[in-house]
Amino acid sequence: MKGLVLAGGAGTRLRPITYTSAKQLVPVANKPILFYGLEQLRDAGITDIGIVVGDTHQEVRAAVGDGSDLGIQVTYIHQPQPLGLAHALLTAADYLGDDDIVMFLGDNLIEGGITGPVDAFTADRPDAQLLLKPVADPQRFGVAVLDDAGGIVRLVEKPADPPSDLALVGVYLFTPAILDAARVISPSARGELEITDAIQHLIDGGGRVRASVLDGWWLDTGKKDELLDANRIVLGSITRRIDGEVDADSTVTGEVVIEAGAVLRNSTVRGPAVIGADAVLEDVHVGPFTSIAPRCQLTRCEVEFSVLLAGCTVRDVPRLEGSLIGREVTITRTARRPAAHRFMVGDHAHLELPEG
Ligand code: DAU
Repeated sequence: MKGLVLAGGAGTRLRPITYTSAKQLVPVANKPILFYGLEQLRDAGITDIGIVVGDTHQEVRAAVGDGSDLGIQVTYIHQPQPLGLAHALLTAADYLGDDDIVMFLGDNLIEGGITGPVDAFTADRPDAQLLLKPVADPQRFGVAVLDDAGGIVRLVEKPADPPSDLALVGVYLFTPAILDAARVISPSARGELEITDAIQHLIDGGGRVRASVLDGWWLDTGKKDELLDANRIVLGSITRRIDGEVDADSTVTGEVVIEAGAVLRNSTVRGPAVIGADAVLEDVHVGPFTSIAPRCQLTRCEVEFSVLLAGCTVRDVPRLEGSLIGREVTITRTARRPAAHRFMVGDHAHLELPEG
């Protein structure tokens, strides 16, 4: 069985963070989202893994390398354009050969790993095995309609009028029959070769398609609030480890990771929170559910329920909350006159200033 992780695509929803970087590499608890999926494949015994990459291939290769650090062997498959999940699968056809496949969307985070679904698939070997999860906003996902016996009758991609609330989670198990199905379908209204259409083709041809409902949480980290939520949930399971330097005037409470090379001076960190390597915090309060990436410099500020990417500088900001800050961003206060907000902000940024 081979793993196929999809890490191409355009990533428009997390703009501007993803203008210049892959959305699958946005960190949750200071670890790229993509790594959680790779580790879950490995933990289910799947170490031969293809990663489909697109425009951001250099960055993905730089982060994952040959996979040996994660205990896997990675083959990169270049998809010239993001023409759909079934197109990505077909692009990988030579790599996949006649093996069974676990296809894992590189921007999905699921709780509890995939050992259960992989074992169930191996025992019974249906043509496709899907994971479903009830959601409040099914129109944003692929949606499944089940019959009374729990079998899948129909799949619809992003329906305006959802026939059920059961969304398709981005982990699919297939026999190679899916490749033949993907070869005969046509692009959808949004111009993509949809994996839902390929699976529907299997169903219509009498193929055995199974589904189980995922017990744990599932996050499709497409938007800022989902990313902050994913960060909150993942931080909820970290264990305290202090490898950095904490001076006598600083307090670290609860489940907090402070990586080697990080320095805290006269600061408090209330967990769960992670402070990346070589970050420097001086006269700072970091509140719960916050991830500060490596090399950030924080001075005289309060940060809570936020994710700061690598190399940010935040100075003299009384309170930063519910924020996702991109790499190498500077937020600072100045005595310069006339007193005014002065920004240099990328396209599609979102800024909220308090009234008054
Ligand atoms: O997250 C689950 C949902 O993922 C499912 O419920 C939907 O049925 C499924 O179509 C998919 O919907 P999205 O619109 O969220 O897919 P997205 O375009 O975000 O792509 C998912 C991942 O696959 C992402 O890491 C980018 C990658 N990708 C995407 C496309 C379209 C590729 O590598 N190549 C592609 O051509």
